[in-house]
Amino acid sequence: MTRRRATAALALALGFALAAGFALAAAAAPEGAPWHGDPIRGQALFVSKRCVGCHAVRGTGGRIGPDLGRTAVKGSFPEIAAGLWNHSVVMHEKMREFRVAPPTFDGNELADLIAFLYFLNYFDEPGDPRNGKALFAEKHCIRCHAVGREGGMIGPRLDAIPRGTPPLRIAQALWNHGPAMTGAMRRMKLDPPRFRGNEFLDLVAFLRSQGQRAAPREFRSAGDPEKGRRLFSAKGCMRCHAVFGQGGGVGPDLGLTELRGSVTQLAGTMWNHWPAMSSAMQAMGMRPPVFVDDELGDVFAYLFLARYAGPPSDPARGAAMYTRGGCIRCHGAGGEGGVGPRLSGRMVGEAREAILQRMWNHAPRMWERMPAQGITWPRFEPSELADLLSFLAEGLDARAPTRARGK
Ligand code: HEC
Ligand code: HEC
Ligand code: HEC
Ligand code: HEC
Repeated sequence: MTRRRATAALALALGFALAAGFALAAAAAPEGAPWHGDPIRGQALFVSKRCVGCHAVRGTGGRIGPDLGRTAVKGSFPEIAAGLWNHSVVMHEKMREFRVAPPTFDGNELADLIAFLYFLNYFDEPGDPRNGKALFAEKHCIRCHAVGREGGMIGPRLDAIPRGTPPLRIAQALWNHGPAMTGAMRRMKLDPPRFRGNEFLDLVAFLRSQGQRAAPREFRSAGDPEKGRRLFSAKGCMRCHAVFGQGGGVGPDLGLTELRGSVTQLAGTMWNHWPAMSSAMQAMGMRPPVFVDDELGDVFAYLFLARYAGPPSDPARGAAMYTRGGCIRCHGAGGEGGVGPRLSGRMVGEAREAILQRMWNHAPRMWERMPAQGITWPRFEPSELADLLSFLAEGLDARAPTRARGK
């Protein structure tokens, strides 16, 4: 595929949904956003740096590496960063095989590319309505709800939900009816359903395909994270949940848990926790919040964006990674330099994306010199790489207080 055709095809394949996600990124970018890249520039780089030659994004592009819109990297910055770093060995080998030079990045380029990969996951992959139909029976929905000619009459008919209703609206309906529904389930001795992997998306795909009438065509909001932040407190979520330390401690800190997947999948995750959450609400004498319009979407837009930063990193553990990763062999115990240049104090306060970019650019030289030093390519878990980056950002001083996350 020529480069221009690849760009055109990629832009088409991602289409409107992605444009809305990117608009969201741009709208939310000022004022303390935890990411530093521009996903639209990142999309162009994905083509110009030839990533698209080996990687498809939801079916469009090369087949040598994994499809980055489907299987790969669905998490926070540390997960994407570790995905990139760890695969660079395999990539360099493949590139040698295909005789292409490894890509290097300037300016803000790697941050842009990472923003692109991150926002790819904002919207769902299309769910599978056939699997959704099977789940509708397996999860016992059919005992109480009719669709077409089948199903019980304890709950409302679900083919009354218009065709093409946005997935988050369905998640919202499910949430709003949670209290009455769990009561009915208890009476029938059914356990509340739990969803794994893509199950929630598949079930929603089924429900939005069965309506007797079509949903009115309306502008589909990508969610308003600023409004979501306010709702998070107004709806009482904050009484139990913190986001990065701000808020209550009854439920998990939603900035720190590794919530994975698209916004709708996050909403599905919340449903899994309904039993524990509703008894916590009862204990606090609190009524479960009800959502209208796009409110649930706004809350999850907020949570999706907050997730980028990942858990706080620890420069002291980063110092251990510096040793274990063999950096010490070429850059010296205090980062004073040796085979490689001096690192101490060179990157103080730089964004994590920028430091990763320096590491990425130097990977080929590091790789060439490793055999002579008797070391192998260091692979890192996401949290380990985040710790290492914060150690470098502290100027190789593990005692320094960690700077604000996401810097
Ligand atoms: C020559 C082929 C090739 C090119 C070019 C290439 N990759 Fe890869 N990529 C691979 C292969 C093969 C893997 C799987 C490697 C592995 O399992 O370690 C991979 C894995 C990845 C992963 C990790 C996926 C995961 O699930 O953890 C990311 C992220 C990634 N590539 C991003 C990129 C980006 C961004 C570019 C462009 C700068 C790029 N790749 C260019 C071949 C390539
Ligand atoms: C034990 C019976 C029961 C089971 C099982 C059940 N529901 Fe319900 N459901 C209800 C009742 C009753 C209501 C209406 C609640 C209310 O009035 O607040 C409802 C409401 C709903 C609504 C809101 C409908 C609307 O018009 O807004 C949705 C969506 C829904 N259920 C989906 C599901 C799905 C999906 C499953 C399976 C995972 C399921 N339900 C399982 C009893 C059940
Ligand atoms: C009364 C306390 C309480 C309130 C209010 C509350 N939650 Fe929870 N929430 C919990 C508890 C407890 C858990 C963990 C449940 C479990 O372990 O199954 C949880 C779990 C979650 C999870 C899953 C986290 C994970 O790591 O998988 C999400 C998402 C979530 N809540 C979102 C919300 C949102 C959004 C609101 C506001 C609409 C909210 N919660 C309101 C107590 C609460
Ligand atoms: C085998 C020797 C070797 C090892 C091991 C090594 N480096 Fe390097 N490093 C170099 C060399 C040589 C350079 C100069 C880069 C170039 O010219 O491409 C460099 C450059 C760098 C730079 C770029 C500095 C700048 O000015 O932009 C960073 C950051 C860096 N290394 C970090 C690390 C980290 C972190 C590790 C451990 C995971 C590591 N290096 C392991 C040899 C090594």
